[in-house]
Amino acid sequence: MINFRTKKTGKKKIIVTSALPYVNNVPHLGTLICIISADVYSRFLRLKNEDVIYVLGTDEHGTTAEVKAKEEGLTPKKLVDKYFKIHKKVYDWFEIKPDCFGRTSSKENTKITVDIFKKLDKNGYIKEKEIEQTYCNKCKMFLSDRYVEGTCPKCKYEEARGDQCDNCGMLLDSKELLNPKCKLCGEKPVIKKTKHLFMDLPKIQPELKRWIDSRKKNWTDNARTMTEAWIKKGLRERAITRDIKWGIKVPKKGYEKKVFYSWFDAPIGYISITAEHIKNWEKLWKNPEKVRLVQFMGKDNIPFHTILFPSFLIGTKEEWTLMDSISVNEYLNYETGKFSKSRNQGVFADDAIKTGIKADVWRYYLMRQRPEKTDSLFTWDDFQEKINKELVANIGNLIHRTLFFIDKFYDSKIPGIKKKLDYKKDVDEITKLIDEKEIRKSLNKILVLGKKGNQYFQEQKPWETIKTDIKKCDNALANLVGLIKDIAILLYPFMPETSENVFDYFRLKNVKWDDLLKPLKRGTVIKKPKPLFNKLEDDELDKFRKKFSGNKKPEKGGKNMSDENLQKLNLKVGKIIEVKDHPNADKLYVLKVDIGGEEKQSVAGLKNYYKKEELEGNNFVFVINLEPAVLRGEKSEAMILAALKDDNLGLLIPENALSGEKVFAEGFEDKISEEQISFNDFKGLSLDVKDGKAYYENKLLKTSSGKIKIDKGLNEGKIM
Ligand code: 2FM
Ligand code: ZN
Repeated sequence: MINFRTKKTGKKKIIVTSALPYVNNVPHLGTLICIISADVYSRFLRLKNEDVIYVLGTDEHGTTAEVKAKEEGLTPKKLVDKYFKIHKKVYDWFEIKPDCFGRTSSKENTKITVDIFKKLDKNGYIKEKEIEQTYCNKCKMFLSDRYVEGTCPKCKYEEARGDQCDNCGMLLDSKELLNPKCKLCGEKPVIKKTKHLFMDLPKIQPELKRWIDSRKKNWTDNARTMTEAWIKKGLRERAITRDIKWGIKVPKKGYEKKVFYSWFDAPIGYISITAEHIKNWEKLWKNPEKVRLVQFMGKDNIPFHTILFPSFLIGTKEEWTLMDSISVNEYLNYETGKFSKSRNQGVFADDAIKTGIKADVWRYYLMRQRPEKTDSLFTWDDFQEKINKELVANIGNLIHRTLFFIDKFYDSKIPGIKKKLDYKKDVDEITKLIDEKEIRKSLNKILVLGKKGNQYFQEQKPWETIKTDIKKCDNALANLVGLIKDIAILLYPFMPETSENVFDYFRLKNVKWDDLLKPLKRGTVIKKPKPLFNKLEDDELDKFRKKFSGNKKPEKGGKNMSDENLQKLNLKVGKIIEVKDHPNADKLYVLKVDIGGEEKQSVAGLKNYYKKEELEGNNFVFVINLEPAVLRGEKSEAMILAALKDDNLGLLIPENALSGEKVFAEGFEDKISEEQISFNDFKGLSLDVKDGKAYYENKLLKTSSGKIKIDKGLNEGKIM
């Protein structure tokens, strides 16, 4: 039995990994979060003289690359070569400094993957099973669920995806779709039997659980919770082969035409990428007593790193260096919704490069907005505010005014210190936070320290004491340069180029974390200072906003933090098929509504505003996830939405839409709630009409078929 306890004593080597991004697109800012986080952490460790290896690379196999290659008319190999170059350039530009950088399509990865597979097979963890799968005769390939489209068996929505219906939300298996079509060529797929190899997770579960229990105290909450939920439910066998061409060939009889599932060989990529650079890689990866593995990733990657990858390694019955601690980030969204290259929405790495804003500033902002506990938002307003208030007015100002003063009044020579300014507590706190991978918080604390420095400058009034009390002035300036040097050290993991610049003013080389709190040498001649950061002006910002926000211009200064609210409603188009008077209330109607083939009853206070014939046979917008209510003895299972202004009321009319279609806030079509909400919760949401258009949390309401019109010419008002 493997002993998962690792020795606490002695200094360990540390392997840091960042999830390997798929290499079939240009990375967007969200993708960079995890990579920069791992870079910040490993730069910090290096500065602390730790023995660290940061492993990064690209995830190149799998269906997505194969399909993208078809779209671009390239072979998969040519496609990944093309995007690999782009990724590499982007990482270099963003000053990402991995010790080992590579690709999962390398020979080394094939070698190690095959080796691990053979050991798993020998140890009885690989099972063969025959399953049924959709196959396209024209494309000559098995189609994963995402590549089949058709009519939803439940709501009859015609563009349901094979894994889920976007209209009614039902989870599907592509074999259940009515009129299925191959998403790639439109042909009707057939069902074919196919054999696959499965990792026997149920068999390895007890051993895996022992490992999880020994480590989970070091994991972020989201990682622990998700992993425990999987284990509690009981693991199922998981296919590790695929019927596609692009991938690592499966070395087993009968499987000559299949390849490994990309999630089998991708995490093994961490090992093989190391092996390509370090001959003695086993001293790192098969040395749990002396090496600690720290893995950074996005939240959708958790089970692959806490369940699958460790199972692959444990199943070999060898002693691998398994994950010790994990840092999981949530998602970064763009102000008008999701990042989407095709809709020209959001900032992609190549765009960021073209803005002319320094890599350090981007790194700073992304870490400052790092989605640590919840999703976070990139907005241009916030970006501008953080650059101008934090980098320019706080850190940049402190550094510049101090250096400028020394340059001007001290003949560029650093004066001597008398009484040391004490900020050791701040430094210790910041160090601890980075060590615990609380990256966003640590940056916050650095800013606080910058503020303290500026306050100290103000209090000491060197511009007066230079004439009245030169000793006091000397002491203040000497303390200030020391503080600047320290802020530069603390900021180094985040903004290496900026910090190097500051070190260079002081002619410092090879600065280490240990140099914190040590005074600079008296008499050092500093180099001529230049401002470190440029203000981001409004007109420039407007240019960026226009360029990267598709056609939707978010309101300047508008509400941004309503992301969560935007996911609370499930709105659908409903057709009123019958209107009756409410038996017990004279302002109410009882409506029968058809919502995509499902009939619901709705009680609505419309009698004073609409005649029956204005309603019957027409489409309107309904909230369908409100807790059902009984209103004066009649049940109400859906609520019709109306705009109200003073005494006028107009219903919301979805143009060109069919009953059952979903109504969504622009950019949030995939974030429809399946959960019921209370009326009180509903009242907390912001729904209103401006300029004759309906908005949900300041985002335009629409359907895929068209606009939402407000009846009775209502131009503004509240929607309820
Ligand atoms: O989610 C992703 O982008 C995956 N390509 C991450 C893979 S991580 C590792 F296993 F390679
Ligand atoms: Zn096809």
